[in-house]
Amino acid sequence: MDNDILKVLYSREDIQQACQKMGEQITADFSGKNPLVICVLKGAVMFMTDIVREINTYLELDFMDVSSYGDGTESTGDVRILKDLDVSVSGRNVLIVEDIIDTGRTLDKLVGLLTHRNAASVKVCTLFDKHDRREKAITPDYVGFNVPNEFIVGYGLDYAGKYRNLPYVGVLKPEVYSD
Ligand code: IMP
Ligand code: MG
Repeated sequence: MDNDILKVLYSREDIQQACQKMGEQITADFSGKNPLVICVLKGAVMFMTDIVREINTYLELDFMDVSSYGDGTESTGDVRILKDLDVSVSGRNVLIVEDIIDTGRTLDKLVGLLTHRNAASVKVCTLFDKHDRREKAITPDYVGFNVPNEFIVGYGLDYAGKYRNLPYVGVLKPEVYSD
């Protein structure tokens, strides 16, 4: 699997450090608020498990699965809910944990939905932000890294369902896409 990677952009240690930094800020902002931390499946799984262990206050976890991509590398714009939350967000301070924000369509839909369901507040934490590609006015509250407009894989991020288990984040060799 490592042979498919052209270059590594963020090591495990880089990601760990970013999680610590964001975790401190989130701890300060959410202490005493019993936030509902929502992990957006599947890409944000690795990030969620690391970030919550850096948040030193009471919180609860829930999961949502949304689909905006087919098997390619471009967002289709059609955002579907594949798995909804188990608990109500009404009156809750919500923190959405996302792997990467690209066009912003996925989060725009999610934030709108949770606001409509009467969440007390909705904040967004993302490990990666591809700001140049933004189409919707979504500004994350906590960002690990601003990334260039390149398709990246690893640490939860996939290409056609693969590479999520890479412990680092990198760029694929061009021939991997053409195969
Ligand atoms: P958006 O709706 O365009 O913001 O897309 C967000 C979703 O697209 C993320 O949750 C990812 O699942 C996926 N995505 C966007 N860019 C990348 C990338 O570079 N690598 C892997 N997945 C990506
Ligand atoms: Mg995702």
